[in-house]
Amino acid sequence: MSTQDPLLEVKNLHKHFGSVRALDGMDIRVNHGEIMSLVGDNGAGKSTLIKCLVGYHQPDEGDIYWRGEQVDFQNPDEALDAGIRVVYQDIGLADTISVARNLFIGSEPTRGPAGTLDVEKMHEEAADVLDEIGLKSLNDPSLPIENLSGGEQQSVKIGRALYFDADLLILDEPLRALSVKEGEKVLRTLKKTREKGVSMIYITHNIFQAYEVGDRFQLIDNGENAGEYAKDELDGPQQLVESLKYVAGGGDLDEFGDETDVAEGTT
Ligand SMILES: Nc1ncnc2c1ncn2[C@@H]1O[C@H](COP(=O)(O)OP(=O)(O)OP(=O)(O)O)[C@@H](O)[C@H]1O
Ligand SMILES: [Mg+2]
Repeated sequence: MSTQDPLLEVKNLHKHFGSVRALDGMDIRVNHGEIMSLVGDNGAGKSTLIKCLVGYHQPDEGDIYWRGEQVDFQNPDEALDAGIRVVYQDIGLADTISVARNLFIGSEPTRGPAGTLDVEKMHEEAADVLDEIGLKSLNDPSLPIENLSGGEQQSVKIGRALYFDADLLILDEPLRALSVKEGEKVLRTLKKTREKGVSMIYITHNIFQAYEVGDRFQLIDNGENAGEYAKDELDGPQQLVESLKYVAGGGDLDEFGDETDVAEGTT
């Protein structure tokens, strides 16, 4: 691997479910140390793309390169072993077990030669993780996860992902169900995490959120590439809004720049 290689590259990904074509030749790239925001409307194919990438679904076609080498993860555990951790939009918590157990699922701290579960340590560390992610009010990590609000559950998923090391963290609609204040705290934590050298894919249909946190933006529409921008080539989020509207309206991306100039010239 050369350090010039992107951390991750996905090329020409196709996936259909019955007659639904969820991905139709989609590409993405994530560079070392950046937050790439993947932006597209509801149903555009964002979650399917991530699930194909980590082996939750098998793509029909396409190539995936991790650290410059072609990979074909058979399941998300293989991706995790390689350093890719996902906070899924729709899955990821076990309802009936405690917040603390959910945080450490599969990596519970143990003590002694018999490997007894170290509940005290787990609860202490769980409290620290929840505090870090802004859930200070939740001071009882022994509560079953199903007793928490949707926003609190979401925070537990994000806290877990941040607690354990990853080279690439993928967050699928992470602010869903969070209050504005909780969301701001999560975005601040993600930026701090980027400073530590962790790369991220931040998935959202909310362009303003994407703009706030992203270094680079890739747009997806109907399972296809719909534009790619570095933050420093944009004046603000409005250009992303216009770009997505244009493509969703059936416009050809190659002609998009001319249209923007016209729109700006007339306002
Ligand atoms: N397991 C599945 N079985 C059948 N169809 C699916 C499945 N998963 C996704 N789809 C379909 O594939 C398309 C893309 O869905 P996907 O969930 O990837 O969109 P998304 O961009 O993540 O949307 P959202 O912003 O609502 O989360 C949709 O038409 C969806 O109905
Ligand atoms: Mg989704």
